[in-house]
Amino acid sequence: MSFSKGFLWGGATAANQFEGGWNEDGRGPSVADMMSNGSKTEPRRITRTFDDNLYYPNHKASDFYHHYKEDIALMKEMGFKVFRMSISWSRIFPTGTEESPNEAGLAFYDKVFDELNKAGIEPLVTISHYESPFYLTEKYNGWADRKLIEFYLRFCETIFNRYKDKVKYWLTFNEINAGVYSFGGFSGLGILNEGTTNMNDQVDIPQLRFQGLHHQFVASAKAVALGHSINPDFQIGCMVAITVNYAYSSNPEDQLANQRSWDYCNYYCGDVHVRGEYPYFAKRIWEEYNVSIKMEPEDEEILKKGTVDFFAFSYYMSNCISTDKELAKTQGNLFGGVKNPYLTANDWGWQIDPAGLRYALNELYGRYQIPLMVVENGIGALDTLEENNTVHDPYRIEYLKEHIKCMKAAMEEGVDLMGYTPWGCIDLISVGSGEMKKRYGFVYVDADDLGNGSYNRYPKDSFYWYQKVIATNGEELE
Ligand code: BG6
Repeated sequence: MSFSKGFLWGGATAANQFEGGWNEDGRGPSVADMMSNGSKTEPRRITRTFDDNLYYPNHKASDFYHHYKEDIALMKEMGFKVFRMSISWSRIFPTGTEESPNEAGLAFYDKVFDELNKAGIEPLVTISHYESPFYLTEKYNGWADRKLIEFYLRFCETIFNRYKDKVKYWLTFNEINAGVYSFGGFSGLGILNEGTTNMNDQVDIPQLRFQGLHHQFVASAKAVALGHSINPDFQIGCMVAITVNYAYSSNPEDQLANQRSWDYCNYYCGDVHVRGEYPYFAKRIWEEYNVSIKMEPEDEEILKKGTVDFFAFSYYMSNCISTDKELAKTQGNLFGGVKNPYLTANDWGWQIDPAGLRYALNELYGRYQIPLMVVENGIGALDTLEENNTVHDPYRIEYLKEHIKCMKAAMEEGVDLMGYTPWGCIDLISVGSGEMKKRYGFVYVDADDLGNGSYNRYPKDSFYWYQKVIATNGEELE
């Protein structure tokens, strides 16, 4: 079995990292707008007000707001069947608390969806991708407050109704499990505790994070039920950052630690979304972090009634888990681990492991048995724009090719995979470092880490390679 006829090939972005236009047409600031640029070694600063001495890269991002026609034309040229994007919540509800939406914001997405439709590209919309309105942080400390459920639902209802004939595929929260790590407190949950100055070292109150996650689970389940009542054809998925962890050794202690890491990193959130209830090990985790979740009597039923239609996930790299504290460490998406002696890494220390994707696909399908979708994958790399505006990126082609081969292998074994949207299909701002130079795209955006540049778009070698992959439905990968 190779890729099905309707396989959804495409690419992925998020408004906060791609769209720009941060204060245009009535949009309010989001959490992403309050973070400065950083680097591999310098963490991104988080500020409650704008500091004139800092640069805030998400404000302009890749300027899709003014380039959407050209960008969608490039996606069409590559043959995209699907485009994953998010709707900026604060473009629709500038503070998150308004009773009625900002019409100019809604009109922008109408234009985007109409353009996609003309190009024959299906939108896949992430409702909340690391961009809750910053006002909700100031007023409520983000998702720590149950009030956020109501605001989020108002946002959902507005966009579900408005776009019910234009959008079929939705994701409720990007990488919801960012909330199990202190790193994800601000971006994922909008929680900003007193004393936090940067993204990598947030003042962490696990009680607030786990309570915030509970509110997001309830909000997601309610959104699924609401979406289906507005249009029964909607396909609504969850989105989890899958970290494939391997036990470093056959020492049973390492094996047990690894099993527990899968519970914590991946299944704590995945199980609630798919099975509609907390897994048995949730209690163990709450005890370990000394948290107690406040639940309303109706929550159990809400979770049960709002299970997702498909399971979407991001996959970039794998880690090793060991009880030996002396072993060398490596970086990763949301979460680093012990270095794997069998793997190489990109410049940011993320280990490259295509077989890990196959492992994840088999593991997830075995556990959940609902359709899967890989909605983020790719290599962040330093590209060089040559004199004649070309970019030679064999490392990116190699990375993606090997991952596609592994998706194919998993499908041959019977895994139900709906689609593949590599991350940052047109270059955009990195979440982890705030850099532009950590590039993932098939299309180069001529801008540097401080926003200097023409913002012109230039197809890279990988653009033409991916075009061929899509045209042959994954048969020709060389
Ligand atoms: C995921 C996010 O964590 O990984 C994206 O959903 C993010 O928003 C991507 O950009 C890659 O991470 P980074 O740090 O390289 O941008």
